[in-house]
Amino acid sequence: MAGEKGSAIQPAKGKLGVMTVGMGAVATTLIAGVEAVRKGLAKPIGSVTQMGTIRLGKRTDNRTPLVKEFVPLADLNDVVFTGWDIFPEDMYGAASHAAVLDKDHLTSIKPFLESIKPMPAVFDQYYVKRLHGTHVKQGKSKCDLAQQVRSDIQKFKSQVDRVVVIWCGSTEIFLEPTAVHQSVEAFEKGLVENDPAIAPSQIYAYAALKEGVPFANGAPNLTVDLPCMIELSRQNGAPICGKDFKTGQTLIKTVLSPAFKARMLGVSGWYSTNILGNRDGEVLDDPESFKTKEESKLGVLDYILQPEKYPDLYGNIYHKVRINYYPPRGDNKEGWDNIDIFGWLGYPMQIKVDFLCRDSILAAPIALDLVLFLDLAQRTPALRNIGIQEWLSFYFKSPQSAPGLYPEHDLFIQSMKLKNTLRHIMGEELITHLGLEYYD
Ligand SMILES: NC(=O)c1ccc[n+]([C@@H]2O[C@H](COP(=O)([O-])OP(=O)(O)OC[C@H]3O[C@@H](n4cnc5c(N)ncnc54)[C@H](O)[C@@H]3O)[C@@H](O)[C@H]2O)c1
Repeated sequence: MAGEKGSAIQPAKGKLGVMTVGMGAVATTLIAGVEAVRKGLAKPIGSVTQMGTIRLGKRTDNRTPLVKEFVPLADLNDVVFTGWDIFPEDMYGAASHAAVLDKDHLTSIKPFLESIKPMPAVFDQYYVKRLHGTHVKQGKSKCDLAQQVRSDIQKFKSQVDRVVVIWCGSTEIFLEPTAVHQSVEAFEKGLVENDPAIAPSQIYAYAALKEGVPFANGAPNLTVDLPCMIELSRQNGAPICGKDFKTGQTLIKTVLSPAFKARMLGVSGWYSTNILGNRDGEVLDDPESFKTKEESKLGVLDYILQPEKYPDLYGNIYHKVRINYYPPRGDNKEGWDNIDIFGWLGYPMQIKVDFLCRDSILAAPIALDLVLFLDLAQRTPALRNIGIQEWLSFYFKSPQSAPGLYPEHDLFIQSMKLKNTLRHIMGEELITHLGLEYYD
């Protein structure tokens, strides 16, 4: 039952258009997966919006609706896809190339997948060294390219009721914010002057936010994690979130490390290595793109373990992350962790985790939840103009938070934050887990 606040949320009427920038492994697994679910061929496993429940009120109240029945989300039958890629293959060709889903699954939805063809992309090999794109826009300046993306969005907008854009494109080289990112005005000047600090992902983000369209960033690039994008997002009521889908190894890291900290167990070393053989792995084989990913993966432990507060336990951790491109594995990544911990009186112990995961199988439901939740945020007065949707941190390796505010990485804090945000916008009581009332 929606409270007073819930009734202020606009209903999810009509079609939701989802535009994916990059139509590779994650995007095709998302699009094919949604169609397979719509056709009753498979279940949306891993999606909180589709399978999750939410407890409301007291434990004795017995009110635990499905998330999608509690908040007004777009129905999967109302979701329409399009996007951009630097390769012209349709979604059937791209999904076959990505080789995440079985041929049987793809064949059963072949006509649908063939009907979705990427629009030409904004691309510059300077920012992704290992790719050679052929299906790319030509423009006089970055400003001209941004206008072309805006007109793609406008065209799609005229065919649907609402639009969300999600970056499922490759990881760009490591960039740091510069003066050009400090305000919308400086960024617009930079677009005209072709400032090299403006990467293609930022051009899409700018175009979407200018059009008042929410933007999620599934890669570790800066993209919307910039003052100018936060300003634009707030101005235009277009919510943003990022960065980098939290899928395999980092998911496990943000589950295990809070457990060590909760039990005051020390950690002296954490060695993480990955082998993967998909196109993402090939792109990350370039040291400049790897650096972007490395930064995103390394931050997690520092924030969760707080070595400055617990120098005896975490003051001396050796944390290393490696990613190796290993073609035989394709999208089936192996994430291997060796964790050296210590307990009572400093006695050492070891934990080994070998996660034989499927990268895009883990990422696709995240991408789905993000687009549905961003669309919800835009229809929700309390969330629409706040810019960064920190309550979606749950889905990211390197969650964006307000400038100067440290991000929450602990998966369970993130999950509580997400569900409490849903309770809050629907006018339901927040759940603190205090529970004293049961013992009165
Ligand atoms: N697969 C996962 O589980 C996972 C997890 C976390 C983050 N990510 C990130 O998500 C992104 C996508 O991953 P993926 O496995 O789908 O990779 P992928 O290589 O299969 O797909 C990326 C696609 O983006 C396209 N592309 C690159 N630059 C583009 C541009 N400027 N405009 C339009 N298209 C562009 C590429 O041609 C490619 O088809 C990567 O940045 C990756 O690091 C993936």
